[in-house]
Order: sequence, then structure tokens, then C-alpha cells
Amino acid sequence: MTVEHTADDHLELVRDLLSRMTVAEKLGQLQQLSWNSATGPGGGETEEIENAAREGRLGSVLNITGATHTNALQRLAVEESRLGIPLIFGLDVIHGYWTTFPIPLAQAASWDPAVAERDGEVSAEEARSAGVHWTFNPMMDVCHEPRWGRIAESAGEDPYLTAVLTAAKVRGYQGPALSADPRKVAACAKHFAADGGAEGGRDYNTVDVSEQRLRNVYLPPFKAALDAGVATVMASFNTVSGVPAHANSHLLTEVLRQEWKYDGMVVSDWTGVQELIAHGLAEDGADALRQALGAGVDMEMVSTHITEHGEKLLAAGAIDPARLDEAVSRVLLLKARLGLFTAPYAEESAEITEPGAEARRATRETAARTLVLLKNETAANGASVLPLPATAASVAVVGPFALSTDLHGTWAGPGAARFAATTVLEGLREALPATEVLYAEGEAEAIAAVREADVTVVAVGEPSEISGEASTRADISLPEGQAELIRQVASVGKPFAVVVFGGRPLTMEEWIDEAPAVLFAWHPGLEGGHAVADVLTGKVNPSAKLPVTFPRSAGQIPLYYNHENTGRPADPADPKVPFRSFYLDVEHGPRFAFGHGLSYTRFETGAPVLSRTEISLRELGEGGSVEVTVPVRNAGDVAGTEVVQVYVHARAASIVQPVRRLRGFARVELAPGQSEEVVVRLDSEDLGFWDNDPAGNYRVETGAFDIYAGTDSTATAHTTLHVV
Ligand code: GLC
Repeated sequence: MTVEHTADDHLELVRDLLSRMTVAEKLGQLQQLSWNSATGPGGGETEEIENAAREGRLGSVLNITGATHTNALQRLAVEESRLGIPLIFGLDVIHGYWTTFPIPLAQAASWDPAVAERDGEVSAEEARSAGVHWTFNPMMDVCHEPRWGRIAESAGEDPYLTAVLTAAKVRGYQGPALSADPRKVAACAKHFAADGGAEGGRDYNTVDVSEQRLRNVYLPPFKAALDAGVATVMASFNTVSGVPAHANSHLLTEVLRQEWKYDGMVVSDWTGVQELIAHGLAEDGADALRQALGAGVDMEMVSTHITEHGEKLLAAGAIDPARLDEAVSRVLLLKARLGLFTAPYAEESAEITEPGAEARRATRETAARTLVLLKNETAANGASVLPLPATAASVAVVGPFALSTDLHGTWAGPGAARFAATTVLEGLREALPATEVLYAEGEAEAIAAVREADVTVVAVGEPSEISGEASTRADISLPEGQAELIRQVASVGKPFAVVVFGGRPLTMEEWIDEAPAVLFAWHPGLEGGHAVADVLTGKVNPSAKLPVTFPRSAGQIPLYYNHENTGRPADPADPKVPFRSFYLDVEHGPRFAFGHGLSYTRFETGAPVLSRTEISLRELGEGGSVEVTVPVRNAGDVAGTEVVQVYVHARAASIVQPVRRLRGFARVELAPGQSEEVVVRLDSEDLGFWDNDPAGNYRVETGAFDIYAGTDSTATAHTTLHVV
């Protein structure tokens, strides 16, 4: 049973320690090293780390796992150093530790915060049992840049959906509040801020963003994570309007501390402090440290300027001693809140060493909820390819992902190396015991199998090694040869479905018109094969919706739903009307819109109805709100879940507003013929916007608002709300 210490006990402990710490010990608390130098430049060697721990010159270690290993290192700090301050162990537990869940972008496609929370709970319990106290997650970089490999770690292009999901993930990792619970870990809101806006989708690249876009698009998920109690924040590699985030006092001090009153700890990202030199901000390591610490970075990951230059800078008056104490206090407070002073060791006998049955069930159920049915045409005979007919005597499974276990995706935890993901072939053979499930390697054999089978599943996609960090792709189509395979299968003229795996939106123009059914499976994790089979066979009716726009061509990027209208928008009725904003050489608009996703049943959503068509600024200012009611009905003959979405558009405002902004959604499970009403509440948070005032000025203005509701961001059913 965990004895809860009150905040006062923690503060008293911190004050007492601070009063007894030497400068070297204080600087040491702000140093984090990586356990294995193979993890990258600057990673500390094992012996150096052990000595630093023993001598109290170290605050944290990342990339060490296993209760035995972490306990051994912890003993050096706790039992041999002068003050016995425990280390805090961090790791990138992004979508699973032993049990790999679908990648975060897939989880966002579920539009279900419970999915993110469940991943957080299972991951935290597994990781904490292995000695990990702190995960560098959730990543909440709003991103409409599918060329960026790290879109896989994000929740997509919408700030509202990202905020809902990442706050849920924080709760999953930490519980309702950070505590000494041995099944929880401290979370980390990253990358602060606007990493998803990097030019060209290239990692570490320039972000030049107006204050209004920073505050309306990139910051809301961080504020939601802070409101959910996130224990730490990680600075981002990019510049923000010319100032690197690691030395950006507007972000790290003015917004985070002064405006949001945040008292958690800020950690640098990898060698982000060192990189201030390459950015052209700092002259050398000492200058980089001075600027990063001065702007608001508390702990330095991997590069070691804090311990190399801290003492000298302090003596020269270049670092404020009060700033040093503030940073050290945050580190000590984090450790105290996690219970590390009272229980610094992992319970080795309780260490979880593999995915449990319940965890496997959770990731399988989660994955099925993330698979997006992009297309499922109905043939002339009224039949559609999916779900696979139970009467099919034979199903052919072909393509590079038919037997692939490469379903864990980027940033998968230690489990990915030890526990193979279930494959599509395995999943289908288990799901269709009475059906002959054929598998063929190579194209010629595949086509022969297609000819023989009643129906075919073509499993294609991008491997996880070209997804994630430092994996930007200029061409986001399927890897070489896969489109050709799909066209070959189509030429046989028999029914087939394409299952696409990947860590980002992929362009499909080369083959999509020839494919009657397409299921986008992302990288679905440990139980990916089973989850894909559950959906292909109809055991699970797909309900996922795209959290990010799928362009027709990479040449259209950036292409996102919540865009400004421009003074000359392309005319939807005739997009080629000249002298308007469109491309000459590609059909206007996305291949699949934000919020798109089909079901095996048919839903009908009605026009939104407002509880009132007018509300005053005064009422809004006093917390008043308007209810939007949207009727939804299952008009088909199988049960299913619809995600009803509500979008807002301010027709005229002092800063032009996106043509639509998601401001509410609800998952509704309906039996055939059943109807429900979804109610979304709109208040000042949904009707206003931040302007370009760097001090932060939120405005709600009078005017007419279009309120749209439906099954995706192209919904036309709408009504009008007047703010007076
Ligand atoms: C990486 C990533 C960051 C991660 C950190 C530690 O470069 O940018 O998201 O948490 O280093 O692995």
C-alpha cells in the first residue's frame, strides 16, 4: 500500500536537501545521461554513469531497463552518494513497453480517449515494474505534414482531437494525479513547441509561425496536458520564429511559467542544448547552457554542459543561483512525488516480463478500433468485398505484409524485439477455420493464388524503418513494386481488398481507383494480424476515422482541413475556374478528408439543432453555452459505431478563421435501426481564438457562426449561431 505524502512533506524535503547540497551536487541533479553510448552521440559510458551516480553528480538516466539493472545503478546513488538522492529513470514508452499498442496516429484514428488511456495504463504498469519511472510521452505535435516520419507519433492535424487524446494518455500514464503508485510513471508533454510545423516536414527544421497560429494550433494540446497534470515537458529541436525552442524564453518562461503557472520540470531533448551552437544562437557549450537554463530548460539530456560549465558560469554570475535552485527543486519535487525517496527500488519479484493475456486483449481491441475503412464499393450485385464473405471457400492473402511481423511501428518498446506481432495470415487462418486461406510469395505465385481463390487480400505498405524520427519521405507513395502488384491483382477481375500498413498518410493515386476495398491499418502493434482479421471478417465493424488528411499528391502538401479560406478559394462546383487557389496538375482537394472512415453499416446523421440560435458575448463571458444536438441513425443491418463530429466556422473575425474547426465529437454505438442524439456543448472556448498579441489575448467576437455536423470534415448539414 503506498503511503501518500502530502505536498508539504515534499516541499520540506526539497528545502532541506537544497540547503545541504553543494553546487556540484545541484548541477548533477540537472544532468541526464543515456545508459548506452550506442544510443547516440554524447550517450554516457556505463562506468562514467556509475561513478557519477556514486558521487552524486547525476540526476537521471535514460534508456536503462530491467529491475535488476535499474536497482543496481540506483543503489550507487542511494547508498553510496553523500546525500542518497535517488535517480529517476526515463525511457521512450510511446505506445507500449512489452505490449505494443498501435502507433499514436492510429490511436488517434479511434477518436476514443479510452484507447489512449488504456495504452497509457498498460504501458505504465509494465514499464514501472521494469524500473522505468518516467516516459517521454505523449508527443502532442499537431501535424499536417505526412512527409514527416514523426507524424506517426502524433495525433494528427487537429488541435482539439490531439488535446483530447493526449490528455487521456497522460491520465493513463500517471493516474488522476502524479503519485507514488508503483503502477504509474511520470509523463512528458513533447515537443514544446510546434515541432509538427517544421518546414518541408524535415526533422529539426525551421518553424516560423505567427503568435496566433502558435496559440490556436500548436499550444492547445500542451495546455490540455498541463491541465491533466503532466509531470514534465520536453523542449523541441526546432526554432520557433527564429529562436530555438531550447532557448525560447517566450515559450519556456512567459507562456509555460508566467501564463500557465506550470511547476513541472522541463527536460531538453537529446542534445538539444548542444544544438543551440549549430542553430547559430550560442557561441559555445557554456553559452548554450547559459541560454537554455536562463530560458527555462531545467534538466540537460545527454550533452553535458550543465556539469562542464555550470560551476564556472555561476561563479561568473552568468547563471542566477536562484534559477539553479528552482531547476533543482523541480527535479527533486518530481522524484518526491513519484515516491522515489521512500521507495527507490523496483520490486524485482513483481517485474512483468511479457505481454499478459489481458494486455494482449487490450491491444487487439484497441487496434481493431483504429483501422480505417477508406473504401468499400458495392458491386452491381449489391455485394461489397468487405467484410469477407463467411461463405468464401478460399481466400488468398498476398503482398509483402501478408506474413510480415513488422507491425509494431516506430518507437515500439522493448517488446517489439522480443515478441513478434501476429501476422495478417495468422489472423485470417484463425478467423476463418473453415476457409482455405492461401498464401503465395512473389508476384507470379500470388496471381496464381488470386485466380484460384474466391476473394483476395493484398497486404502492402511502408515498413516501420522508414517511419518515425529522421524518416522524412519526399515521395509518400507505396514502396517500389506494390502498386504494380495491386494492379496485377485487379487485372484478374475477381473481388479483392487492399490492406495498407504505414506510419503516415500515403498517396494512392496509382492504384486506388482499381481497388474496390481499402483498409488502412497503420502499424497496429503486437496483435495487429488478429485485429486486421477481426475487421476483415466483420467480427469487428470498423469505426475509425482519419485524424489527418490523405493528399492525392505530395505536391499538395501542406493540405489540411482546418485551413483558411483565402480570398479566392477553388470553386467546389468547378475547381478549375481560373485565378483561384488550386493546382493545375492534380484534382482539387484530398483523396480522403480528415474525419473520413466507413462502416459495414450505413449511418444517417441529421442536421444539427441548436438549443438557441443566439447568445451574447456577456453570457459567453459568464460561462454560457449553446447545445448542438445531432440526430444519428443506424440505417443498415449490422450494429456499428459512428463518430459524429461537430465543426465550427466563424464567417467573419478580426483574424480569419479556418473554414472548419473540430469542436466536439462522440462515438455512438447503434444497433440496426436504432437512433440516438449526440449533444455537443459550445462555449467561449469553442467560439473564440487567440490573436497575435505575444502576451496572449483570447478573443470572442460577435458574428455569425456556421455549425456543421456529420460523419467527417466535409459534412454539409449545418445551422447558424449568432453571437451578439
Ligand atoms: C529523441 C526524440 C525525443 C526522445 C528523445 C529521447 O531524439 O526527439 O522525442 O524522447 O530523443 O530518446
